[in-house]
Amino acid sequence: MRVRLFVDDETSPRAEFEPPDTFELDTTGLVDGPHVLRVVAGEDGAPAGVETIPFSVRNGPGIAVVGLAENETVAGRIPILVNAYQSRIGDEFEPVRAETPAPIPTWAWVLCLLVGVWGLYFLAAEYRAAASRVAAAAPGPASGVTPELATALPRAATSPAADDTALGEQTYGNYCSACHQLSGDGVPGVFPPLRGDPVVLADDPTEHIRVILEGLQGRAIGGVMYAAAMPAFAAQLSDAEIAAVVNHERTNWGHEAPRVEAADVAALRADAPR
Ligand code: HEC
Repeated sequence: MRVRLFVDDETSPRAEFEPPDTFELDTTGLVDGPHVLRVVAGEDGAPAGVETIPFSVRNGPGIAVVGLAENETVAGRIPILVNAYQSRIGDEFEPVRAETPAPIPTWAWVLCLLVGVWGLYFLAAEYRAAASRVAAAAPGPASGVTPELATALPRAATSPAADDTALGEQTYGNYCSACHQLSGDGVPGVFPPLRGDPVVLADDPTEHIRVILEGLQGRAIGGVMYAAAMPAFAAQLSDAEIAAVVNHERTNWGHEAPRVEAADVAALRADAPR
């Protein structure tokens, strides 16, 4: 049994040997392009077996063409970019020589555009969230509050007069309204009304402050005797809180009695019986 190898239409074999064996195909002598390896095996005189293997040789430089696709229909003048690159055995890889300078494809621009649009949307969403936080942080009617106004509002709330009003309302709600009611009307026959009460409306606030400091029991108010006692608040409330609650009673429910200061409370507290 003999095996003979031919390339294309060669008549003399490139190699002839007894199988199995190895064979090195030297393509350097072949023209670049399609070729066929033909393997013929057989005994002398007997019918031979033939196997053909088509293959392609590329020993020359690689070629890249940008600007004209296969079977593309074109018109007029078209710019075409051509690059050729080659490496020999032992060459180092150099991307600059291997890469063809092609124009940036459209899909890359579209991707950039999408990323940019997403970035802008993100910024806008963040800005709106921050703006609504600023608006929510500002007390009062939130809509239309500018950042300057939002920072100015808390400062206004800490001015002395406004503070007194808030403190008075809070103190009255916490310590007095259970008996005298938020409306100042009290509970008929049980707790006296403070609305229209002569002590609350008196120009001299001494009695008003003293009742709160020391409490009260057994006085007929408006001709009514109250079985319950008015508790003393000297131990529970500060001078500022008592002044604020006194002012609350003197300026609410249609009252317009003179206001007091924390110092007025302090003076009466100092000479109160222990
Ligand atoms: C436990 C119920 C109760 C609470 C709480 C209470 N009071 Fe009174 N208050 C009374 C009663 C009862 C009287 C009447 C006592 C009397 O006639 O002897 C009274 C009387 C008064 C009077 C005197 C009215 C007058 O004409 O003499 C004033 C002023 C007053 N209270 C203010 C306050 C303030 C301010 C607070 C909160 C810091 C407060 N009260 C909390 C029950 C209460």
